[in-house]
Amino acid sequence: MSKELKSVDYGLEKIFDGAQDFLPLLGTDYVEFYVGNAKQAAHFYKTAFGFQSEAYSGLETGKKDRVSYVLRQDKIRLVLTSPLGSASPINEHIVKHGDGVKVVALWVEDARSAFEETTKRGAKPFMEPEVEKDEHGEVVRSGIYTYGETVHMFVERKNYNGQFLPGYRKWESDYNPEPTGLKYIDHMVGNVGWGEMNTWVKWYEDVMGFVNFLTFDDKQITTEYSALMSKVMSNGNGRIKFPINEPAEGIKKSQIEEYLDFYEGPGVQHLAVATDDIVKTVAALKARGVEFLPPPPQAYYDDIPRRLGAHMDTMKEDLNKLQELSILVDADEEGYLLQIFTKPLQDRPTLFFEIIQRMGAKGFGAGNFKALFESIEREQAQRGTL
Ligand code: FE2
Repeated sequence: MSKELKSVDYGLEKIFDGAQDFLPLLGTDYVEFYVGNAKQAAHFYKTAFGFQSEAYSGLETGKKDRVSYVLRQDKIRLVLTSPLGSASPINEHIVKHGDGVKVVALWVEDARSAFEETTKRGAKPFMEPEVEKDEHGEVVRSGIYTYGETVHMFVERKNYNGQFLPGYRKWESDYNPEPTGLKYIDHMVGNVGWGEMNTWVKWYEDVMGFVNFLTFDDKQITTEYSALMSKVMSNGNGRIKFPINEPAEGIKKSQIEEYLDFYEGPGVQHLAVATDDIVKTVAALKARGVEFLPPPPQAYYDDIPRRLGAHMDTMKEDLNKLQELSILVDADEEGYLLQIFTKPLQDRPTLFFEIIQRMGAKGFGAGNFKALFESIEREQAQRGTL
């Protein structure tokens, strides 16, 4: 592992010990959504979230069966793909799951070795290593299935200096809304079925060499009505963090069950994107029509000084401003974090975004779970799915 990698390890040095280096990951490369209408989805992510037009592939680039729009904001790259005819297998994915994340692509040094190392450890192949070339060089990609029909692609781009991938062209647009300050993907969460969390934890350990560095049981993640369990998996350098959730028994239906019902199986529940200035980012997102979960009650904000303790003195943000924007606050030994969750981003109550600003804290907002899930339950009640 290079020196440069270690210098940005998010302070998770302790997990280097347990993690294995047969699959060195340099970062997230892109996240690809299969959607019903990529052209309109691209407009939404540009307008509402401030993503920038980056690359395009479709009929004009010689692609006959599908169209893909690549959007970028700082280090976050989204690919929105739709089929161009009824024969495409992408249709089956959309019919079953609705709009959602198909590919979580990981940036690697060597996509052939990534494929070999993971498949020999039991991964189900999605795509054998393939070399794609154009005048800017070559990219090697391979892919494996993870939970449900979700895929991890391995992308080796060290011999490529084009826009995105061969087969794409630069997407020049006259419509370029301002970015909203989203920087990089902090973590990506998967929802899996009843009793399957540990199966997938073991899969990430065995197949990907990840380690489980945080666990939340159904006693910690519970409200009066519903519960879930979660384990956070991380790769060796701490750049890639995948919490895995499963539903737990409660009086009413948990949000994970609702997700599984509407996605018709396991899949990506949320993408957490980091910002350096959550107040500015969330104000901008709200002004552009992004909908967030309803605010927690007054008592939640009254209790923040007690929950934050000494971190309250170092807090740079104005608590009234945070409350005005319904931003949640949590702290651990090392610092605090600020976070907020959007409502589902498509018709089905499945995928949503989290906006997160870390001020030293390494956790996932465990102190907010109760308030957060109560907000989700109020939404579920309106949908008749609680
Ligand atoms: Fe999260």
